[in-house]
Amino acid sequence: MTEPELAGRKALVTGGAQGLGKKFAEFLTAAGATVVVADLQDDKGKEVADAVGGAYVHLDVTDDASWEAGIASAVEQVGGLDILVNNAGIEIASLFVDLDPDVLRRIFDVNVVGTSLGVKHAFRTMGPGGAAGQGGAVINIASVAATIAFPALSAYSASKSAVDRLTRVAAMESGKLGLGVRVNCVCPGLVPNEMGAGLANEMTRLGLFPSPEEAVAGVVGLTPSGRLATEEEIADAVVFLASDRSKFINGVALSVDGGMGM
Ligand SMILES: NC(=O)c1ccc[n+]([C@@H]2O[C@H](COP(=O)([O-])OP(=O)(O)OC[C@H]3O[C@@H](n4cnc5c(N)ncnc54)[C@H](O)[C@@H]3O)[C@@H](O)[C@H]2O)c1
Repeated sequence: MTEPELAGRKALVTGGAQGLGKKFAEFLTAAGATVVVADLQDDKGKEVADAVGGAYVHLDVTDDASWEAGIASAVEQVGGLDILVNNAGIEIASLFVDLDPDVLRRIFDVNVVGTSLGVKHAFRTMGPGGAAGQGGAVINIASVAATIAFPALSAYSASKSAVDRLTRVAAMESGKLGLGVRVNCVCPGLVPNEMGAGLANEMTRLGLFPSPEEAVAGVVGLTPSGRLATEEEIADAVVFLASDRSKFINGVALSVDGGMGM
Protein backbone atom coordinates (compact mmCIF):
# COMPACT_ATOMS: atom_id res chain seq x y z
CA MET A 1 0.00 0.00 0.00
CA THR A 2 1.34 3.47 -0.85
CA GLU A 3 1.63 6.08 1.89
CA PRO A 4 -0.86 8.98 1.86
CA GLU A 5 0.82 11.86 0.05
CA LEU A 6 0.98 14.18 3.07
CA ALA A 7 2.01 11.49 5.59
CA GLY A 8 4.08 13.00 8.37
CA ARG A 9 3.37 16.61 7.35
CA LYS A 10 2.03 19.16 9.81
CA ALA A 11 -0.41 21.78 8.55
CA LEU A 12 -2.03 24.88 10.02
CA VAL A 13 -5.30 26.19 8.54
CA THR A 14 -6.46 29.68 9.54
CA GLY A 15 -10.20 30.23 9.64
CA GLY A 16 -10.54 26.46 10.02
CA ALA A 17 -13.64 26.51 12.26
CA GLN A 18 -16.15 26.45 9.41
CA GLY A 19 -16.70 26.65 5.66
CA LEU A 20 -13.76 26.16 3.34
CA GLY A 21 -11.21 26.09 6.16
CA LYS A 22 -13.03 23.19 7.81
CA LYS A 23 -13.07 21.34 4.48
CA PHE A 24 -9.34 21.98 4.02
CA ALA A 25 -8.69 20.55 7.50
CA GLU A 26 -10.65 17.42 6.57
CA PHE A 27 -8.98 16.94 3.17
CA LEU A 28 -5.44 17.61 4.45
CA THR A 29 -6.08 15.08 7.22
CA ALA A 30 -7.42 12.53 4.73
CA ALA A 31 -4.22 13.05 2.72
CA GLY A 32 -2.17 12.09 5.80
CA ALA A 33 -1.31 15.44 7.42
CA THR A 34 -1.75 16.37 11.06
CA VAL A 35 -3.78 19.57 11.11
CA VAL A 36 -3.87 22.49 13.50
CA VAL A 37 -7.10 24.48 13.20
CA ALA A 38 -6.66 28.20 13.94
CA ASP A 39 -9.59 30.59 14.35
CA LEU A 40 -11.32 33.15 16.54
CA GLN A 41 -14.29 30.83 17.09
CA ASP A 42 -12.84 28.56 19.75
CA ASP A 43 -15.77 26.16 20.28
CA LYS A 44 -16.35 25.48 16.59
CA GLY A 45 -12.60 25.35 15.92
CA LYS A 46 -12.03 22.80 18.67
CA GLU A 47 -14.88 20.69 17.33
CA VAL A 48 -13.23 20.57 13.89
CA ALA A 49 -9.82 19.84 15.43
CA ASP A 50 -11.31 16.98 17.48
CA ALA A 51 -13.13 15.58 14.45
CA VAL A 52 -9.93 15.44 12.38
CA GLY A 53 -7.75 14.27 15.28
CA GLY A 54 -5.67 17.44 15.18
CA ALA A 55 -5.05 20.41 17.45
CA TYR A 56 -6.59 23.85 17.93
CA VAL A 57 -5.06 27.28 18.49
CA HIS A 58 -6.81 30.62 19.01
CA LEU A 59 -5.27 32.90 16.40
CA ASP A 60 -6.36 36.34 15.20
CA VAL A 61 -4.68 36.67 11.81
CA THR A 62 -4.67 40.48 12.02
CA ASP A 63 -2.49 40.44 15.13
CA ASP A 64 1.27 39.88 14.95
CA ALA A 65 1.59 38.72 18.56
CA SER A 66 -1.29 36.30 18.06
CA TRP A 67 0.57 34.73 15.12
CA GLU A 68 3.74 34.46 17.17
CA ALA A 69 1.98 32.67 20.01
CA GLY A 70 -0.33 30.63 17.77
CA ILE A 71 2.42 29.21 15.58
CA ALA A 72 4.64 28.47 18.59
CA SER A 73 1.76 26.59 20.19
CA ALA A 74 0.98 24.74 16.95
CA VAL A 75 4.59 23.60 16.53
CA GLU A 76 4.70 22.50 20.16
CA GLN A 77 1.42 20.59 19.92
CA VAL A 78 2.07 18.69 16.68
CA GLY A 79 5.87 18.74 16.47
CA GLY A 80 6.48 20.88 13.39
CA LEU A 81 5.00 22.93 10.56
CA ASP A 82 5.25 22.10 6.85
CA ILE A 83 2.06 23.60 5.40
CA LEU A 84 0.24 26.86 6.11
CA VAL A 85 -3.15 27.54 4.54
CA ASN A 86 -3.85 31.28 4.85
CA ASN A 87 -7.61 30.86 4.53
CA ALA A 88 -9.18 33.27 7.05
CA GLY A 89 -10.95 36.03 5.16
CA ILE A 90 -14.01 38.24 5.22
CA GLU A 91 -16.31 39.59 2.52
CA ILE A 92 -18.47 42.70 2.88
CA ALA A 93 -20.13 44.10 -0.25
CA SER A 94 -20.65 47.82 -0.78
CA LEU A 95 -21.30 50.18 -3.63
CA PHE A 96 -18.66 52.87 -4.09
CA VAL A 97 -21.24 55.57 -3.34
CA ASP A 98 -21.80 54.05 0.12
CA LEU A 99 -18.22 53.01 0.90
CA ASP A 100 -17.39 53.16 4.61
CA PRO A 101 -13.63 53.54 5.11
CA ASP A 102 -13.80 51.51 8.31
CA VAL A 103 -15.27 48.56 6.41
CA LEU A 104 -12.60 48.93 3.74
CA ARG A 105 -9.88 48.91 6.41
CA ARG A 106 -11.42 45.87 8.13
CA ILE A 107 -11.45 43.88 4.88
CA PHE A 108 -7.83 44.79 4.20
CA ASP A 109 -6.85 44.06 7.78
CA VAL A 110 -8.10 40.47 7.67
CA ASN A 111 -7.50 39.59 4.01
CA VAL A 112 -4.22 41.41 3.31
CA VAL A 113 -2.55 42.11 6.66
CA GLY A 114 -3.69 38.71 7.94
CA THR A 115 -2.33 36.83 4.94
CA SER A 116 0.92 38.81 4.94
CA LEU A 117 1.54 38.10 8.62
CA GLY A 118 0.87 34.43 7.91
CA VAL A 119 3.58 34.43 5.27
CA LYS A 120 5.92 36.23 7.67
CA HIS A 121 5.48 33.71 10.45
CA ALA A 122 5.52 30.72 8.09
CA PHE A 123 8.86 31.88 6.70
CA ARG A 124 10.30 32.42 10.16
CA THR A 125 9.08 29.04 11.35
CA MET A 126 9.69 26.86 8.29
CA GLY A 127 12.89 28.50 7.06
CA PRO A 128 16.40 27.37 8.06
CA GLY A 129 16.89 27.79 11.81
CA GLY A 130 13.15 28.21 12.44
CA ALA A 131 11.23 26.20 15.05
CA ALA A 132 10.15 23.76 12.31
CA GLY A 133 12.99 24.50 9.86
CA GLN A 134 12.20 21.98 7.11
CA GLY A 135 10.78 24.32 4.45
CA GLY A 136 7.32 23.61 3.11
CA ALA A 137 4.35 25.11 1.33
CA VAL A 138 2.15 28.15 1.93
CA ILE A 139 -1.22 28.27 0.21
CA ASN A 140 -3.03 31.61 0.29
CA ILE A 141 -6.75 31.70 -0.44
CA ALA A 142 -7.55 34.53 -2.82
CA SER A 143 -10.77 34.51 -4.90
CA VAL A 144 -12.20 34.64 -8.38
CA ALA A 145 -12.99 38.21 -7.29
CA ALA A 146 -9.29 38.97 -7.85
CA THR A 147 -9.76 38.23 -11.54
CA ILE A 148 -13.16 39.69 -12.48
CA ALA A 149 -15.15 42.91 -12.08
CA PHE A 150 -18.36 42.24 -10.14
CA PRO A 151 -20.34 45.21 -8.80
CA ALA A 152 -20.13 46.02 -5.07
CA LEU A 153 -17.01 43.91 -4.56
CA SER A 154 -14.38 46.65 -4.95
CA ALA A 155 -12.84 46.29 -1.49
CA TYR A 156 -13.01 42.50 -1.46
CA SER A 157 -11.67 42.22 -5.03
CA ALA A 158 -8.85 44.66 -4.33
CA SER A 159 -7.90 42.73 -1.19
CA LYS A 160 -7.85 39.42 -3.06
CA SER A 161 -5.85 40.93 -5.95
CA ALA A 162 -3.38 41.97 -3.27
CA VAL A 163 -3.27 38.38 -1.99
CA ASP A 164 -2.55 37.20 -5.54
CA ARG A 165 0.33 39.68 -5.96
CA LEU A 166 1.84 39.24 -2.49
CA THR A 167 1.86 35.49 -3.14
CA ARG A 168 4.19 36.00 -6.11
CA VAL A 169 6.47 38.34 -4.20
CA ALA A 170 6.58 35.88 -1.30
CA ALA A 171 7.57 33.01 -3.63
CA MET A 172 10.34 35.15 -5.13
CA GLU A 173 11.58 36.29 -1.73
CA SER A 174 11.57 32.76 -0.34
CA GLY A 175 13.66 31.60 -3.27
CA LYS A 176 16.05 34.51 -2.99
CA LEU A 177 16.56 33.89 0.73
CA GLY A 178 16.77 30.10 0.33
CA LEU A 179 13.90 29.45 2.72
CA GLY A 180 12.69 26.31 0.96
CA VAL A 181 9.06 27.40 1.14
CA ARG A 182 6.85 27.38 -1.96
CA VAL A 183 4.07 30.00 -1.96
CA ASN A 184 1.00 29.71 -4.18
CA CYS A 185 -2.58 30.88 -4.03
CA VAL A 186 -5.94 29.46 -5.00
CA CYS A 187 -8.69 31.61 -6.52
CA PRO A 188 -11.96 29.81 -5.72
CA GLY A 189 -15.15 30.54 -7.58
CA LEU A 190 -18.33 31.22 -5.63
CA VAL A 191 -19.12 28.37 -3.23
CA PRO A 192 -22.70 28.07 -1.95
CA ASN A 193 -21.72 28.01 1.73
CA GLU A 194 -22.40 30.65 4.41
CA MET A 195 -20.14 33.28 2.80
CA GLY A 196 -21.39 32.50 -0.72
CA ALA A 197 -25.04 32.74 0.36
CA GLY A 198 -24.24 35.96 2.23
CA LEU A 199 -22.85 37.48 -0.95
CA ALA A 200 -25.97 36.60 -2.94
CA ASN A 201 -28.11 38.18 -0.19
CA GLU A 202 -25.97 41.33 -0.19
CA MET A 203 -26.29 41.69 -3.98
CA THR A 204 -30.06 41.60 -3.53
CA ARG A 205 -30.03 44.05 -0.60
CA LEU A 206 -27.99 46.48 -2.71
CA GLY A 207 -30.57 46.26 -5.50
CA LEU A 208 -28.17 44.71 -8.03
CA PHE A 209 -30.28 41.56 -8.50
CA PRO A 210 -34.00 41.00 -7.80
CA SER A 211 -33.32 37.94 -5.60
CA PRO A 212 -30.42 35.87 -4.20
CA GLU A 213 -31.35 33.12 -6.69
CA GLU A 214 -30.94 35.54 -9.57
CA ALA A 215 -27.62 36.77 -8.17
CA VAL A 216 -26.41 33.15 -8.16
CA ALA A 217 -27.77 32.69 -11.68
CA GLY A 218 -25.80 35.79 -12.70
CA VAL A 219 -22.58 34.18 -11.46
CA VAL A 220 -23.42 30.84 -13.07
CA GLY A 221 -24.14 32.65 -16.34
CA LEU A 222 -20.57 34.00 -16.33
CA THR A 223 -19.12 30.53 -15.65
CA PRO A 224 -18.23 28.28 -18.63
CA SER A 225 -18.70 25.16 -16.48
CA GLY A 226 -22.26 26.35 -15.79
CA ARG A 227 -22.45 25.94 -12.01
CA LEU A 228 -20.98 27.07 -8.69
CA ALA A 229 -17.91 25.48 -7.08
CA THR A 230 -18.05 22.89 -4.32
CA GLU A 231 -15.93 23.10 -1.17
CA GLU A 232 -14.44 19.72 -2.10
CA GLU A 233 -13.17 21.01 -5.45
CA ILE A 234 -11.35 23.88 -3.73
CA ALA A 235 -9.94 21.52 -1.09
CA ASP A 236 -8.54 19.21 -3.80
CA ALA A 237 -6.55 22.17 -5.16
CA VAL A 238 -5.22 23.02 -1.69
CA VAL A 239 -4.05 19.44 -1.11
CA PHE A 240 -2.41 19.43 -4.54
CA LEU A 241 -0.50 22.66 -3.83
CA ALA A 242 0.51 21.33 -0.40
CA SER A 243 1.85 18.08 -1.81
CA ASP A 244 4.97 17.06 -3.73
CA ARG A 245 2.82 16.62 -6.84
CA SER A 246 3.16 20.39 -7.20
CA LYS A 247 6.79 20.59 -6.10
CA PHE A 248 7.88 22.72 -9.09
CA ILE A 249 4.83 24.97 -8.94
CA ASN A 250 5.69 28.20 -7.19
CA GLY A 251 4.24 31.71 -7.15
CA VAL A 252 1.09 30.89 -9.11
CA ALA A 253 -2.57 31.72 -8.70
CA LEU A 254 -4.57 28.58 -9.42
CA SER A 255 -8.11 29.42 -10.49
CA VAL A 256 -10.70 26.85 -9.38
CA ASP A 257 -13.71 28.67 -10.73
CA GLY A 258 -15.12 26.72 -13.66
CA GLY A 259 -13.53 29.25 -16.01
CA MET A 260 -15.32 32.33 -14.65
CA GLY A 261 -12.20 34.44 -14.20
CA MET A 262 -10.37 34.45 -17.49
N1 LIG B 1 -17.29 31.13 0.04
C1 LIG B 1 -16.94 31.53 -1.15
O1 LIG B 1 -17.73 31.56 -2.10
C2 LIG B 1 -15.52 31.96 -1.41
C3 LIG B 1 -15.13 32.17 -2.73
C4 LIG B 1 -13.82 32.58 -2.98
C5 LIG B 1 -12.94 32.77 -1.93
N2 LIG B 1 -13.35 32.56 -0.65
C6 LIG B 1 -12.36 32.77 0.41
O2 LIG B 1 -12.19 31.56 1.11
C7 LIG B 1 -11.85 31.81 2.48
C8 LIG B 1 -12.81 31.05 3.38
O3 LIG B 1 -14.13 31.44 3.08
P1 LIG B 1 -15.42 30.72 3.72
O4 LIG B 1 -16.45 30.69 2.67
O5 LIG B 1 -15.03 29.47 4.41
O6 LIG B 1 -15.82 31.86 4.79
P2 LIG B 1 -16.45 31.72 6.26
O7 LIG B 1 -16.91 33.09 6.61
O8 LIG B 1 -17.43 30.60 6.30
O9 LIG B 1 -15.21 31.30 7.18
C9 LIG B 1 -14.17 32.20 7.47
C10 LIG B 1 -13.50 31.75 8.75
O10 LIG B 1 -12.44 32.69 9.03
C11 LIG B 1 -12.49 33.04 10.40
N3 LIG B 1 -11.91 34.36 10.62
C12 LIG B 1 -12.42 35.56 10.26
N4 LIG B 1 -11.61 36.55 10.69
C13 LIG B 1 -10.57 35.96 11.32
C14 LIG B 1 -9.41 36.45 11.98
N5 LIG B 1 -9.16 37.76 12.11
N6 LIG B 1 -8.53 35.55 12.50
C15 LIG B 1 -8.77 34.22 12.40
N7 LIG B 1 -9.86 33.70 11.80
C16 LIG B 1 -10.75 34.57 11.27
C17 LIG B 1 -13.98 32.99 10.77
O11 LIG B 1 -14.17 32.85 12.16
C18 LIG B 1 -14.44 31.77 9.97
O12 LIG B 1 -14.30 30.58 10.71
C19 LIG B 1 -11.91 33.33 2.63
O13 LIG B 1 -10.61 33.88 2.50
C20 LIG B 1 -12.78 33.77 1.48
O14 LIG B 1 -12.55 35.10 1.10
C21 LIG B 1 -14.61 32.15 -0.36
